[in-house]
Amino acid sequence: MSLKTLPHVHLETFGCQMNESDSELVRSLLKQQGFVFTEDRERADILLVNTCAIRENAHNKIYAHLSELKAVKKQRPLVVGVLGCMAQNLKTDLADKEPIVDVLAGPDSYRQLPTLLATALEAQEQGLAQKRFALDLSEYETYEGILPDRDSGVNAWITVMRGCDNFCSFCVVPYTRGRERSRDPESILDEARDAAARGFRQITLLGQNVNSYRHGAWDFAALIRAVADQGGIERVRFTSPHPKDFPPALIEAIATHPGICKHIHLPLQSGSDRILELMGRTYTGAEYLALVDRIRCAIPDIVLTTDIICGFCSESDDDFQATFRLVEQAQLDSAYIFKYSERKNTIAARKYADDVPDQVKGRRVSQLVDMQRAITADRNRRYIGKEVGILVEGDATRSSSQGMGKTDGNITVVWDKSTGHPGPGTMVTKHIFDASAATLYGE
Ligand code: SAH
Ligand code: SF4
Ligand code: F3S
Repeated sequence: MSLKTLPHVHLETFGCQMNESDSELVRSLLKQQGFVFTEDRERADILLVNTCAIRENAHNKIYAHLSELKAVKKQRPLVVGVLGCMAQNLKTDLADKEPIVDVLAGPDSYRQLPTLLATALEAQEQGLAQKRFALDLSEYETYEGILPDRDSGVNAWITVMRGCDNFCSFCVVPYTRGRERSRDPESILDEARDAAARGFRQITLLGQNVNSYRHGAWDFAALIRAVADQGGIERVRFTSPHPKDFPPALIEAIATHPGICKHIHLPLQSGSDRILELMGRTYTGAEYLALVDRIRCAIPDIVLTTDIICGFCSESDDDFQATFRLVEQAQLDSAYIFKYSERKNTIAARKYADDVPDQVKGRRVSQLVDMQRAITADRNRRYIGKEVGILVEGDATRSSSQGMGKTDGNITVVWDKSTGHPGPGTMVTKHIFDASAATLYGE
């Protein structure tokens, strides 16, 4: 690579925590090759967008962002690169549709990015317009040996496995992130030690399906224990497990290890057995509830959250009522509730009709949201009058006169800074005097 000046890169990230974590890898890979990162888009020679494809509105957000970049690219020469799941999903269709895109790179191709961007810059200097792609998925790539260039803060993401082999019928992830593969535990532990040494106080282990983690004799329960045993780390979190295989050893680890947070995000998707079957989730509503019971028996103060999709193919009122009743019965701490969004090439797109009218999807989402909000507010009220341990994150988003942190169960707590406000990364105890569906109020 021969670059005359140091190229400046501006990177924006959309989508889930896995993408946040991948952006940190991309930064590391590019910095090693002499690229310089800037927060200021106006100073950048290269604009990168790390994208998400999970629902149509994720695509729409990126299209809106790209049309904003169109205006920027009119003013000066620029290389525009689209990374991540949407690049992998739409491939060259995206480049054809969006003339401003010069480079496309999927989640398994980031090692090629420095070369792609350097050649794209050179081509641009010579007035050549040629698009460059790196879109091969790999069965092996785990970015071994690349220490991520982490965002500052109290939390460090560590990806423990990539890809997904579950092929839930609605989901695009197996197509955008390829086959499931687990990283070497030694390199995960090295990253954890490095994060602790750099002052991070919390680690969140990431995978689409963490209970499929396997490496030699290691499973996920052994891995999370080993990470939590590292000195300097207060808290270890993880996301996501799949309800089909939640081993007793992991419940035991969460119940007994003080460093492992008592929060489990356990995506339900639907409470109708017929719909769960069509989704390919391989558990029933009753099995999900039994798992919730098992977890609560072992860990009484566990915080349980979930994801639900409304209006999946052929979902009838009765199916929706089954979900509604199950959510009411489970009394989970909170839920992300989505309208089903058909994704090209998925099993559902090929086999079933997306036949629930948008209005009906919307009505079902708001019915569930309303009920869950009441349940969440009710669940949060159980903390009133209690002392809770909080990891301080910084200022509250709403007001800089308030501090903000998270409970072990990942619930947001805010407090008036005049009642005491130690710096980010400190563990404090606050007395909770009020609670809403979104927040606990401490003093
Ligand atoms: N691997 C994670 C899910 C990642 S996607 C897991 O299995 O837990 C996050 C959430 O997006 C999913 O739980 C699901 O509720 C939602 N989702 C995925 N595909 C969707 C689609 N096509 N339409 C609407 N929501 C979807
Ligand atoms: Fe998608 Fe299912 Fe894999 Fe989660 S487990 S990423 S929902 S295919
Ligand atoms: Fe994440 Fe979106 Fe890809 S949710 S895995 S960035 S499709």
